[in-house]
Amino acid sequence: MNFRRMAGWRGLLAGVLLAVAASAAPAAANKWGADYFPDVVLTTQDGRQVHFYEDLVKGKSVAVNVIYTSCVDECPLETARLAEVQRLLAGRVGRDVWFYSISIDPERDTPKVLKAYAARFGVGPGWLFLTGRKQDIQLLTRKLGLSRTSDAFSKDGHASSLMLGDDRGGQWMRTSSVDNPRFLATTMASFFQWKDALPTQDYGQARVVDISKSQYLFESRCSSCHTMGAGDRIGPDLLNVTQRRDAAWLARYLKEPERVLAERDPTAVALSKKYGGVPMPNLSLGEDDVRGLVAWLAQQSRAATSAGASPNAGAGNAQHHHHNAPEPRR
Ligand code: HEC
Repeated sequence: MNFRRMAGWRGLLAGVLLAVAASAAPAAANKWGADYFPDVVLTTQDGRQVHFYEDLVKGKSVAVNVIYTSCVDECPLETARLAEVQRLLAGRVGRDVWFYSISIDPERDTPKVLKAYAARFGVGPGWLFLTGRKQDIQLLTRKLGLSRTSDAFSKDGHASSLMLGDDRGGQWMRTSSVDNPRFLATTMASFFQWKDALPTQDYGQARVVDISKSQYLFESRCSSCHTMGAGDRIGPDLLNVTQRRDAAWLARYLKEPERVLAERDPTAVALSKKYGGVPMPNLSLGEDDVRGLVAWLAQQSRAATSAGASPNAGAGNAQHHHHNAPEPRR
């Protein structure tokens, strides 16, 4: 037995092996290699043709997910998260690990569309966006355990999973591409056994433990794309958004942004133009989550105003929940 991590092996067993066959013979160490993955030809966002196994996986450590650029649900969040992971891994992507995002809407997602999409998220080198023939991609996603069921395959049925693969060690594991980026970065560091470890001490310590549910929601679901007072990222800076927008509009926009846009609401149309086609995703927030978030956004904006708009000005309660401010006490 040559498996470093049974947990990772089991993750793959659950996700991939079930999709392949119920015959489930005991796995050998190199089971997930050239015999397993189809060596289909894919095209990168730069129009280069590559073979999935030979060129992209063989001998490498990889992180693979599926996306489609017109997705209004979780995929924009996944891409934003991975872009943050790429930043956290500072230079390792393209050297120690390769990221691949495979489009499951290859007809619409031409290399040109994928290239614009990648640019929108500030994607760096070592991360390929891939398209190809529809049937090849279906086969591939099934083999990767990245389609929700083995047979039916619908755009909306894609799983927001990220498969980590270490071809040299013959190991794969499933993780979620919407996890906290710091957590994902440390997961990669340990799964790929990087010796010169990441600065892990930074990851745990920066977080305030006692945070409200809404702040937690913001940090886990929104902060990959939005800041509060630190400027636009993928989406607009949300400081004072509760002043510039009507409360009812805001609540509805958080709940079903794609519907508001489909109705040609002028604000939604203007936002969609300005932010270059990356949509505000529908994150399936419940009523309570939306109410809490709106209240939290308002409270943060008031706090920033009363603190003189400087994150370091004032040491009173107004700063207590400011997530950019250092936490002096423990
Ligand atoms: C994948 C990136 C992404 C994520 C994640 C995301 N947003 Fe957005 N958001 C955007 C983009 C891009 C826009 C502007 C374009 C648009 O509205 O379509 C936007 C617009 C908004 C707006 C309208 C801003 C204005 O000026 O009126 C609000 C409010 C908002 N988002 C709140 C949130 C909240 C709250 C969360 C978390 C629950 C969140 N967003 C998660 C990308 C994102």
